[in-house]
Amino acid sequence: MTHPPKNLTALGEFQPSDIWQTHINSIFYGIKGPLIHNHFQTYVSLDYRLAHALANDFFNKAQGQQPENGTWYIQEWGVGNGNLAACFLSHLREIDAENQVYPSLHYILCDESEEILKGVRANPRLQEHAGTFSTVRIHAEHLDCFRNGSVTKIISNEIWDDLATKVLLKHQDFYYEEYLCPFLDLDTLPIEKYEFLEQFRTKDLAKLAELPPFLDAIHWERDFQRVDLADWPYAEILQAHAKEFKDEIPMPVNMGAFSTIAKAKELLGPGNFGYTSFDYGMKTMQDLNQEGRPYFNLYGGQYTFMVNFPLLENMGRSIGFTNITSEYQNQFVQNDLGSIALSLVDLMQHHPRVVEMPPWDRDILMLSTLHALNTVYRSPYQGKLLYPVMEGTPKKQRKQIVQLAKNLSGRGVPDTVAYVTREEVLAALKPLRKLGYREKDIESAFNSPPPPVSFVHLQFGL
Ligand SMILES: C[S@@+](CC[C@H](N)C(=O)[O-])C[C@H]1O[C@@H](n2cnc3c(N)ncnc32)[C@H](O)[C@@H]1O
Repeated sequence: MTHPPKNLTALGEFQPSDIWQTHINSIFYGIKGPLIHNHFQTYVSLDYRLAHALANDFFNKAQGQQPENGTWYIQEWGVGNGNLAACFLSHLREIDAENQVYPSLHYILCDESEEILKGVRANPRLQEHAGTFSTVRIHAEHLDCFRNGSVTKIISNEIWDDLATKVLLKHQDFYYEEYLCPFLDLDTLPIEKYEFLEQFRTKDLAKLAELPPFLDAIHWERDFQRVDLADWPYAEILQAHAKEFKDEIPMPVNMGAFSTIAKAKELLGPGNFGYTSFDYGMKTMQDLNQEGRPYFNLYGGQYTFMVNFPLLENMGRSIGFTNITSEYQNQFVQNDLGSIALSLVDLMQHHPRVVEMPPWDRDILMLSTLHALNTVYRSPYQGKLLYPVMEGTPKKQRKQIVQLAKNLSGRGVPDTVAYVTREEVLAALKPLRKLGYREKDIESAFNSPPPPVSFVHLQFGL
């Protein structure tokens, strides 16, 4: 066990990582609502290509078929700002020229946070589909309000990494579980110490939301305690999986994700199109056993764990899913677009000078790369990307960033993580060259091997 700095107070006891992680995340989503996207971007929060690929896939499967009881029920679990649902529905309506599928569709957005759902209902892109969607406040591991066998398709993006996750470490044939404890400097808060500790313990969202931001100041202490895997849920699958662990590498065991997969199995009805999830983690056993790879992340206080995809596949198979696909997320998008695609930020990472640039110059390069791509790119949706200036940016660069951001096209690449195709990038080669990109950088961006922690698409079918 390590020791926290002296000025910090423990906000509770040491507990298994899943207990504190879920505690902190429900406070994070509960008090921040749609402002979560100020702390992190996802591949669906502004971009539309993943949503369109899902809509195309759904349409191809549903076309020419009749839904059971007259309605195709789609559920999305953990919905963020609702942009995935909005782009899915808009694209489906557009490709469904003969009104075969869209009129029989009902899309249910499920989320644990009322603040998030409030934001979703106010999303203008989604409001265009009033009557075709509804929102339900529910915990993704306890979706008990729906009838078994009633759902056609389930989708989730970046929710498994938020759900209860334990961490295992193997050492000479013994297993150890990670325990966490949060600490905070309580002198920084304008509230009596014991009052705060009680609000934090009981997750008093209304009161905690009134305080100055404190989640990202939490200091986490870790400890590992010996465990017997035979006492854990799904012990047999887990024991077989853990035998393949290399010693001393922390391995996430995504218990909450297991529950969603089991729930999906119950909810999916006859002739269903499966459960599709996208998340961030280790796709193969080799990735899991890669020394030094990260296993958790903190974004503005939110605590996420990387996803152990091989274990989830085993789990899915053990509960009866017979058709399981695992592929890199960009492969799924590529198959839909019929072209190699990558996220714009990955392209920028291959700029020959990016590594030596200070952060504000990287912002200028990102904005200039967006401008270069926007000479050829046209989004089907109107919406200008907001690009705030980072704290600490010198005056001259600040001015340049503000100007570049102001001049971004309202129909341009919708996000810094948006997918762009090789054709789009090559069509913008001239302005990209002026920014210092060489053709070999672009080729290597499109042909790099995936890192051990990547965005992955897992599909469970029956
Ligand atoms: C990382 S965000 C992803 C949002 C959205 N899918 C996207 O990709 O932009 C996780 C979402 O899951 C929701 N969430 C977290 N834990 C949940 C739980 N146990 N049950 C239901 N929703 C949950 C959060 O409120 C948030 O909307």
